[in-house]
Parts: sequence; structure tokens; C-alpha cells
Amino acid sequence: MTDKKRIAWCITGSGHYLKESIEIIFTLKNIDLFLSKAGEEVLKWYDYNLEDFKSKGIKVFKDTTASSAPVSLLYEDVYKLVVVSPATSNTIAQMCYGLSDTLVTNMFAQAGKCKIPSIVFACDTEPTVITQAPKKSVTLYPRDIELENYEKLRTFKNIDVVDNIVKLNQALKKWI
Ligand SMILES: Cc1cc2nc3c(=O)[nH]c(=O)nc-3n(C[C@H](O)[C@H](O)[C@H](O)COP(=O)(O)O)c2cc1C
Repeated sequence: MTDKKRIAWCITGSGHYLKESIEIIFTLKNIDLFLSKAGEEVLKWYDYNLEDFKSKGIKVFKDTTASSAPVSLLYEDVYKLVVVSPATSNTIAQMCYGLSDTLVTNMFAQAGKCKIPSIVFACDTEPTVITQAPKKSVTLYPRDIELENYEKLRTFKNIDVVDNIVKLNQALKKWI
């Protein structure tokens, strides 16, 4: 039964759209959190406390094993969807070249191999991006390589790659 299955939500080390992603997470039921090491650090930079997730019944999986042990849950029919939001340019690059040496890139790769659909919210999708540093907004100019990687990922099967919150919510609607 699809509705009983959970969503695996992955957070990487991105300040861009972190707040908006967390706002969505707190509206969802049957959701677990998977953090890259940088994701865990960046949550602290932006004053988020993992206890706030746990108190809402969200299980939190950290990147503490070389083998990304929590990915084995994907083999147990627990999850109907993997969401990576926000996704750093590092994670996007790893994903589109088939690398998987963090918990989040492993979740993405193993989801693909298990034919579990994914939604990825990419940060660096336009030549100019206004992003939220911990204390202020900053303007960044993603390089050609970041824009190329984003375009490449969009060609992958069974993955919705989105570049704004409206599209993220639309993609999620199919699953909640
Ligand atoms: C406060 C802070 C905010 C960051 N925000 C971003 C971001 O918005 N986008 C990005 O690509 N990297 C960002 N980074 C850098 C990533 O955290 C870094 O590239 C890290 O290695 C990514 O690892 P991950 O992809 O495994 O999470 C930020 C770093 C810090 C300290």
C-alpha cells in the first residue's frame, strides 16, 4: 500500500532553500530525515536543532558509516519516495556522474537501483542566484559546470529535478 510507505527526505550542506525545505518537512507525515555530514553541520549554522525533528516523530539518520548503512532500508519496501532538498552543487555533481560516497548520494543511487522515484531540488540552476548565508543574503554566480550538471541530471529517468518551491510542492503532491 503506497500510502503506508514513508518518504526519505535528504538534506545536504546547503543554506539555499534550507528554511523552505524544512517548512515542508514539518507539514508531512511518515517522513524520515537523512543527512550528509555537511547537511548536519549546516543545520547547526542555521540554528536548527535535530531534537525538533525527533520530537515530531521524524527519525534522523546521520552519515556515520563508510557503507551508508541506512540505505539498506530502501531494500525493505519502507520508502515510496526519496527527496533531496536542498541539494548542494557537490551532491548534484556526484549524482549525475554516478558517484555515491555520502549517505545522501548513496540514498539517491540506491533509490535509482531499487526503482524508487526521487525528487531533487537543485540549488545552482541559473547564472545568478541569491542565497541565504547564515547571517545575510549573498549573490552567487554558478559556474558553467554547475549549470551543466543540473541539465544533465534533468535527463535521468524516474527523477523530478526542480528548481523552485512551487515545483517542489507540485512534485510532492503526487506522493502525499
Ligand atoms: C553556511 C554554509 C552554507 C552553504 N550553502 C551551500 C549552498 O547553498 N549550496 C552549495 O552548493 N554549497 C553550500 N555550502 C557548501 C557545502 O556544504 C559543501 O560543498 C559540502 O561539501 C557539501 O557536501 P554534501 O553535498 O555532501 O552535503 C555551504 C556551506 C556552509 C558552511
